[in-house]
Amino acid sequence: MPATSTNTCRNNAVTKVLELEGLTKSYGAVQALRGVSLHANEGEVLAICGDNGAGKSTLIKVISGAHAQTSGTLRLNGREVRWSSPHDALVHGVATIYQDLALAPQLSVWQNVFVGAEIRKTLFPGFSILDKKRMRAGAAEYLARLNQNIDDVERPVADFSGGQRQAIAIARALLWNASIVIMDEPTAALGVKETAKVLALIRHLKDTGVTVLLISHNMDDVVQVADRVVILKAGRVAAQGALEGISPATLAQTVMTGEWPQVQ
Ligand SMILES: Nc1ncnc2c1ncn2[C@@H]1O[C@H](COP(=O)(O)OP(=O)(O)OP(=O)(O)O)[C@@H](O)[C@H]1O
Ligand SMILES: [Mg+2]
Repeated sequence: MPATSTNTCRNNAVTKVLELEGLTKSYGAVQALRGVSLHANEGEVLAICGDNGAGKSTLIKVISGAHAQTSGTLRLNGREVRWSSPHDALVHGVATIYQDLALAPQLSVWQNVFVGAEIRKTLFPGFSILDKKRMRAGAAEYLARLNQNIDDVERPVADFSGGQRQAIAIARALLWNASIVIMDEPTAALGVKETAKVLALIRHLKDTGVTVLLISHNMDDVVQVADRVVILKAGRVAAQGALEGISPATLAQTVMTGEWPQVQ
């Protein structure tokens, strides 16, 4: 269900919100995932890194309900789930922000935020119309929570920058009360300033208890914003660990070798 409030961290204990066990995915003869097991905690930023073809996009497609796994299990808050569609995952709090953002550029900001969750008002029994006033105010409020001063939510999304569009897509995820937000290369097409804004948005989500899965080839971004990293290689988890004290160069080396750096 769409949300009426944002998530908050309920306690200090570490809660595994997402657990994958032995996930495999084959496309005909191609084995894109060969038994991936990992978990994500409540309110953490988990980076998923790996070379081209390592299986990152396939993994997020399974988590987000775009593809069904060939075998293995997916648990959300301890309960096994099997999505029938990305919408099914969204309704259960798993929102994915794809690289192309899946926004309708010609539609207004508020229309994009409320797509699939439109608010209606009943004029008389059996007759209702869209409550545009409430949706405009709602969109502005969600964006304000993300520290975005978009004053005119009537303007088409096409008028906004890449970073602002990320914020609009995140506002939509908040509306659905997402507890997990998956972002696929969110800064790939952005300049330095816009990248900094998107990293701030990711930190903001984390601060409100949302778990972020960040797929990125940009080691600087990953080291700046992620708590842990899982490195995929040829469809398997090659290495994983906490990022504290790891430099972007060391992480890049680890992605290449698949070996976690030894403590000096
Ligand atoms: N729809 C598909 N049909 C057939 N093979 C696919 C399909 N999607 C992905 N693959 C294959 O699965 C493997 C993993 O691909 P995937 O897109 O998950 O990698 P990736 O880690 O996201 O790579 P990149 O960093 O280039 O985006 C690759 O060998 C790829 O060619
Ligand atoms: Mg990919």
